Amino acid sequence: MSDTANTPAVDGRLDADIRDLAAVRDPDHSGWTREVFSEPYRESRELIAAKMRAAGLDVSTDGAGNIVGVLHGSRPSAPALVTGSHTDTVSGGGRFDGTVGVLGGIELARRLRESGTRLTRDLVVVDFLGEESNDYGLSCLGSRALAGELTASDLDRRDVDGVRLGDRYAGFGLDPSRALQAGWLRSRKLHAYVELHVEQGPVLETKGIPIGVVTAITGIERLLATFVGRPDHAGARPMNDRRDAMAAAAHAVLDVQRTGCGAPVHGVATTTRLTSSPTSPNVVPGRVQMRAEMRSVDADWLSGARRRLAEDILNHARGEGVDVTFEWSTDNEITETSAAVHDIVARSADENGLPWTPVPSGATHDAVHLARLCPMGMIFVPSLGGRSHCPEEWTDTAEIEAGVQVLTTTVRKLDRLDGVA
Ligand code: GLV
Ligand code: MN
Ligand code: MN
Repeated sequence: MSDTANTPAVDGRLDADIRDLAAVRDPDHSGWTREVFSEPYRESRELIAAKMRAAGLDVSTDGAGNIVGVLHGSRPSAPALVTGSHTDTVSGGGRFDGTVGVLGGIELARRLRESGTRLTRDLVVVDFLGEESNDYGLSCLGSRALAGELTASDLDRRDVDGVRLGDRYAGFGLDPSRALQAGWLRSRKLHAYVELHVEQGPVLETKGIPIGVVTAITGIERLLATFVGRPDHAGARPMNDRRDAMAAAAHAVLDVQRTGCGAPVHGVATTTRLTSSPTSPNVVPGRVQMRAEMRSVDADWLSGARRRLAEDILNHARGEGVDVTFEWSTDNEITETSAAVHDIVARSADENGLPWTPVPSGATHDAVHLARLCPMGMIFVPSLGGRSHCPEEWTDTAEIEAGVQVLTTTVRKLDRLDGVA
């Protein structure tokens, strides 16, 4: 059987999956909200587990808190093929970020079964725990744990209400100590990981190309800057004798923006949050905390930009008589996709008659952490208007079907290889 001889898409099936999942959302938030550890998220995971079971997968929750569905191959000892993504969303997010990779993986399993294809290897479809960055400033909880990259000090991080991350696991019915033990991956070898995802940017739509073959996933540096000035009476304190933490932070917001605009290739920088105190309308803010992030697939730019940004913020703060301290953390390192998987995805698109283009990912993905364990690749499908992390996020089902087609061909090809170089 040829690699592209997939059973045709069953009319309306993927549409129904997307609709079923979209019905699970937090009614107290706009758009589609299923934040990690929330009740709607618990429900979406149950829905995914049920869909996996109905597709003939053997379903369990691993120690890291991921929902894992296995389609058994003919040689259980062979290194497994893995696909998947996530069903948590940002607050006020959309319907496609992450869900396309999980539902696409389930659809892949159905198509293999319906076409009578038994892979040699196990196909493992994963709904990874908490991919989106959370109140703890940590993304990809489940895939990070699988790669052994979740640490005890990560679990000790506290959110703004002082709640430990480890306690959030426990409150969700997960044992945080098991998350530190990397779960099932300790006991099995992996052949390759391929993730289907919406692009979340404008490249594919602008070029009119249905498939993106991902070259690299952005690195992310996060900054928490604390500005300490002096609270004063907003009416009585003269303008030339203030230590206004908010004014220093305002300079910093523009410093962040200028840094992003100065990137030569792919580089972005965003201030995501400012919190100030005191909060009275008649007090000069004495303390401001600013959260920002910088991303790029260019390591030199990223490290240079981090240094320059800190200098600019410091200089502007000094001008306002304000002290500033910096806490940097690397959410994830720049991660290149495997050249071998990249080529197989590209060939699979060609064989399905689907034009493709190489594209870097400005979003992070569970694939970053799976890349620590095995060769990794990603398939992108277009995002309408390049919009994402907002309710307007949209990809037509036909475009997702094309992605599933490429994923299916890719998995068939990978299954036959003895090793992915
Ligand atoms: C997740 O979507 C991220 O890129 O932060
Ligand atoms: Mn995602
Ligand atoms: Mn996202």
